Amino acid sequence: MPSTVSFPLVRREIAGVDIFELARQFGTPTYVYDAAKIHERVQDLRPFDTIRYAQKACSNLAVLDLVRRLGVVVDAVSAGEIHRALRAGFTAEGDPPGIVYTADIFDHAALEMVLEHHVPVNAGSPQMLDQLGQVAPGRNVTLRINPGFGHGHSQKTNTGGEQSKHGIWHEQLDDCLWRADRHGLGVSGLHMHIGSGTDLEHLGQVCSAMERAALHVGRTITTISAGGGLPVPYHERQSYVDLDQYFQLWDATRRRLQDQFGHAVSLEIEPGRYIAAEAGYLLAEIRAIKQMGQNTFYLLDAGFNCLARPILYGAYHPMSIASRTANDQVLQPVVVGGPLCESGDIFTQEEGGFVSSRPLPAAEVGDYLVLECAGAYGFAMASNYNSKPLPAEVLIHQGQPHLVRSRQTLDDLVRGEQIPAW
Ligand code: LLP
Repeated sequence: MPSTVSFPLVRREIAGVDIFELARQFGTPTYVYDAAKIHERVQDLRPFDTIRYAQKACSNLAVLDLVRRLGVVVDAVSAGEIHRALRAGFTAEGDPPGIVYTADIFDHAALEMVLEHHVPVNAGSPQMLDQLGQVAPGRNVTLRINPGFGHGHSQKTNTGGEQSKHGIWHEQLDDCLWRADRHGLGVSGLHMHIGSGTDLEHLGQVCSAMERAALHVGRTITTISAGGGLPVPYHERQSYVDLDQYFQLWDATRRRLQDQFGHAVSLEIEPGRYIAAEAGYLLAEIRAIKQMGQNTFYLLDAGFNCLARPILYGAYHPMSIASRTANDQVLQPVVVGGPLCESGDIFTQEEGGFVSSRPLPAAEVGDYLVLECAGAYGFAMASNYNSKPLPAEVLIHQGQPHLVRSRQTLDDLVRGEQIPAW
């Protein structure tokens, strides 16, 4: 984990592969992932007993297979994510279990998958305990607790506190222990994920809340999970969280619990962004350059159908230009937008939808623009809006690009649709 970050404004390659070659071979828009970066980020997290990847960040089967080979297990939030995990070779058995279902509800499909594949459950609502207990009494569960406060890079990613729908409200812990008892479910662990973008000061409060809750539950607790939320720098002004200190805080909490309980307590972490964000690049082609009054627009073949974070959260993504002539010493303010028929389809926007600009090198139509740090919640949140096919995904491993998801075809777009026999 480096202490500072810098992002290039001009880029010729991704993970050692020439960008023009990538675009020629796979077309655009395409997500490109760097396997080495994923490996590096997993290595940073080795002090934790269990690294559980929150696959919602980027759930391509090849990425799941890669992290599985690195000894990482996964979290699943839906029947679909359990299916993906199974297809990537994870099993729910083992200690730690290869798959855990974490959610605030069971829909019918998820409950069926959990039963059929014996997937351990991390329950985020009292009703989940009843619904599971009725059909699978005697299982162990973990509880996701909302400690009453939270944190997030935006209001939409804050997952703790009264405004949040996530987890079991801390004051309802007794009620949930009672429900678990009534159904013969053992409570073997606690989990707290209080938002994406945690800072250390806040973490101290989370650790204390975890300790209180675990002591309250008592000696049945054998795992605690720190949830996800580890930030990554998206901007040169931002830095990495001090992972040593992050681990020390959690480790001290775990050790105090071990002393109290007289048995081992395993410490899990459940990051999505930290593992996937920096490994991903969205490669797009500049298809038009327009002068609108004072503003220069670069219009790409990728929009919020490919990367929704800017329009959803005003998220900042670093950008670089790949062209034969780009010069990072000569910059001009540019508004970068996509192809969609919607004026909010702008990558250079702030929270609230205010359009801003970015100093970028001069470019020509046919050059490429790379949206960086796009591996987490990039493809995973892409859509077919405006009937745009989902982009291709490519994973670069040891200098070799592998197509790991074909671009959707136009026929894929209408698959399953039917015109009735009027
Ligand atoms: N565990 C649980 C229970 C979660 O709800 C989440 C994220 C994670 C782990 C992983 O959080 P991470 O380490 O990736 O921050 N779409 C938003 C982020 C939503 C996060 C939702 N839950 C974004 O693009 O920033």
